[in-house]
Amino acid sequence: MSLELAALRRQFPIFANHPGGKPLHYLDNAAMAQVPRAVIDAMAAHDSTSRANVHRGLHPLAERADGAYDAARAKVARFLNAADPSEIVFTAGCTASINLVAQATGATLSPGDEVVVSRLEHHSNLIPWLMMAKARGCHLRYLPVTDDGRLDESRFGDVIGPRCRFVAVTHASNVTGAVSPVRKLAEAAHAVGAAILVDGAQAIAHGSVDVQKLGVDFYCFSGHKMFGPTGIGVLWGRRNLLALLTPPVTGGGMVGQVTDDDVTFLDLPYRFEAGTPPVTQAVGLAAALTWLGDIDRPAFSAEERRLTDRLLDGLSATAGVAIVGPKDLERRLPVVSFAVRRLHPHDICQILGERGVAVRGGMLCAQPLMTSLGLAAGVVRTSLALYNDDGDVDAFLIGLTEAIKVLT
Ligand code: ALA
Repeated sequence: MSLELAALRRQFPIFANHPGGKPLHYLDNAAMAQVPRAVIDAMAAHDSTSRANVHRGLHPLAERADGAYDAARAKVARFLNAADPSEIVFTAGCTASINLVAQATGATLSPGDEVVVSRLEHHSNLIPWLMMAKARGCHLRYLPVTDDGRLDESRFGDVIGPRCRFVAVTHASNVTGAVSPVRKLAEAAHAVGAAILVDGAQAIAHGSVDVQKLGVDFYCFSGHKMFGPTGIGVLWGRRNLLALLTPPVTGGGMVGQVTDDDVTFLDLPYRFEAGTPPVTQAVGLAAALTWLGDIDRPAFSAEERRLTDRLLDGLSATAGVAIVGPKDLERRLPVVSFAVRRLHPHDICQILGERGVAVRGGMLCAQPLMTSLGLAAGVVRTSLALYNDDGDVDAFLIGLTEAIKVLT
C-alpha cells in the first residue's frame, strides 16, 4: 500500500473503530460508502454552532443555517456543472429524487404514451415508473441487455420510438458495473422529443459528472454512496423542464400564497422541497465534495482501476465462479458481481463476513435483471472505493476460496 493510500485510509474512522477486533475489508461500497472524518466533523460543527431551520427564521442562528444550506446547494451545482444552483433540489436520496420526477412527469402523460427504462435498472429507477405507467395507462418498455450485462446499443432505435415521452436509465449498473452510453441515449430520447433522466447512484462515486456535457435532462444521486451522509439526495434538472412540473409533495416551505381554496408555489428549487429539508446532511454532502476536491482523485481512481483488474483476474481464476458483467475496464465500474456454481450468494456473504470481508449478495434490488440473466438466487457483489487496497482484494479472494471449500 502506498503512503498516500495509507494516509487516505486513515481519514476514515471506521477502519480503526469498527467492533470485532479484526481488520475490516469493506467491499460493499455500492450499497454505502464510508465517510471521512472531515464529513463527520463538518456535520458536528454545524449542529454545534449553526443548527436551525432554514428559510423560515430571521434570527442570527437561522441566518447562519440559511447560509450553510445555500452554500451546500451552490457547491453541488458547481460539482455537477449545473447552469444554476436553482436547478439543484435536495431530497432524501436518489430514490426520492426519481420518485419526484416520475410522479410529476406522470401528471403530464396520456394513456398510450411510452416510458422507456432498461433491464439494468435498480428497483429505485424501475418501480416509480412502473407504478406511474400503470396509473396513467402508459406503456413501460425495456431496453434489453447483452449477455455480458451491458445495454444493447443496437436496440435503442427499436425501443425508443415515436410514442416515447420519457427515458429513465442508470448511468452504471449496481449489478454488472456496466457504464451506459448516456450521450447516445440522450440523443435517441431527444430525437423523438422525449426527456431523459439518469440515475447516477453508482457512477457518481467513480468519476466526475458534467450534466451539461452528458446532454441529459435530469440526474440524481445520493450522499451515502459518495462519502457523504445518509438521508440526502440530489435531483438536478434543466430549469425549463423542472419549471413545467407540478410538485408531487406539498407542505410548508414551498408556498407563496395559501388561501382556503388555492395555493401558489415558490420558484425553483424551493417548490420541490416541502417540509424541513436535510440541512445538516446538506452540510455533510458539501464537506464530502470539498474532501473529494482536495484529494488527488485521478490518482486514487487509477489505483481503484488497477485493483478492479486484480479482482477480475482473481475471480476468473477461481473454479466455479462466473463473473456477471463486462470484463473490459473501459466499460465498467469497480462493481463486480459473480455467481458461484451450486452455491447460494447469502452463504458466501456470511462466511466472508465472518472473515472481516464485507460484500453484498442476493438480488441487489434488481429482480428483472436477475431473471433475464437466469440468476434465480442472484449474485455476490464486491464493490470498491478510493480507500480500498491490495490487502482488501487479497482477503476477499482468499476468503472466497475458503468459503467455496467449506460449502462444497
Ligand atoms: N442501491 C444499493 C445497492 O445496490 C443499496 O446495494
